Amino acid sequence: MTVSPDSADRSPFERRFRLAINTGGGDAPGLNAVIRAVVLSALNRGWEVVGIRKGYDGILDGEGVVLLDHASVEGITHLGGTILGTTNRGNPLAFERKLPDGTTETVDRSDEIIQGFKDRNIDALVAIGGDGSLRIASELHERGLPVVGVPKTIDNDLAATQVTFGFHTAVQTATDAIDKLHSTAQSHERVMVVELMGRHTGWIALFAGVTGSADVILIPEVPYRMESVCRRLLERYERGPRYGIVVVAEGARPEGGEASVVESGEEGGATRYGGLAERVARQIQDRAGLETRSLVLGHLQRGGQPTAYDRLLAVRFGSAAVEVVAAGDYGCMVALDPPHVRAVPLAEAVERLKTVPEDSDVLATARQLGIGFGD
Ligand code: F6P
Repeated sequence: MTVSPDSADRSPFERRFRLAINTGGGDAPGLNAVIRAVVLSALNRGWEVVGIRKGYDGILDGEGVVLLDHASVEGITHLGGTILGTTNRGNPLAFERKLPDGTTETVDRSDEIIQGFKDRNIDALVAIGGDGSLRIASELHERGLPVVGVPKTIDNDLAATQVTFGFHTAVQTATDAIDKLHSTAQSHERVMVVELMGRHTGWIALFAGVTGSADVILIPEVPYRMESVCRRLLERYERGPRYGIVVVAEGARPEGGEASVVESGEEGGATRYGGLAERVARQIQDRAGLETRSLVLGHLQRGGQPTAYDRLLAVRFGSAAVEVVAAGDYGCMVALDPPHVRAVPLAEAVERLKTVPEDSDVLATARQLGIGFGD
């Protein structure tokens, strides 16, 4: 029996519309706020809501599907992480299955997912994810699953939305950290190189670098030369004060060179970036003769309470997603197109990454302030 989202003429014997939510990919501050907004907006329409544990594992691997009611989402708006759990390992549409002889085969488990939804009487899915998870959601929609996407990632690299939730919090966390580095760098007359997240795009590094008054910012969009980085720092030391702050996005790369990778991803997992701050710090010390230290902010950027901005964006996205489901506009993603939250086609939204454009106003502002990009 199919049930329409808002059928006012439903007989008492008909079951209620059942909406599922899942969270996929790396976590981001604001996930719980979206979950709460989806659950409350759906319950207010008289629907039922279930949460799928750990992406699609709840359907495929017995992780479970839980009923979400008012009590389940009480007091979670301000909490980091996701009450549903998440995973950024493995793609159910290209699943690496181990065979008894130790080899693996790649299988598409979309039929199992679609059947799992039918078996549980789930009528639609709100998939909260970044580029990878939303690409999976888009493909599942093409194979018949009624899906609405919500854009999440601290990296802010999803096209079709002005901003993703989680980004603002990550920038705030990174700015707070850079603020603290200034005093210790100044006391010791050192250069501090701090590595921030951003595999393919430099949004966090650019924004936090500007707000944290960095001297040099290295981002994947602008290949760097160490000669230029060192020149910028030496000029500053000469003019004073004699210390420096360098902010690097983990995926930045030298002109004609490769990004710094700790896991290549050749064995099926995602490529993991890392080690750039230490590499750049050693080069500054060797080439410019400036005492330098490095640190990696890492997953601190993904944790903790979402800022008020991210909470508001998250609840706007969550409630808008329920409206899109109610309208039956499946295969869409909610997106911020100020001052509105709109629905855009999922397939279009995951078509390309949103990189920092050459004509970015923030990039231009940084350059006007004398911040170097190593180019
Ligand atoms: O959420 C995206 C991201 O934050 C990237 O910037 C980073 O490279 C990646 O996640 C790391 O994720 P994990 O360590 O969870 O695999």
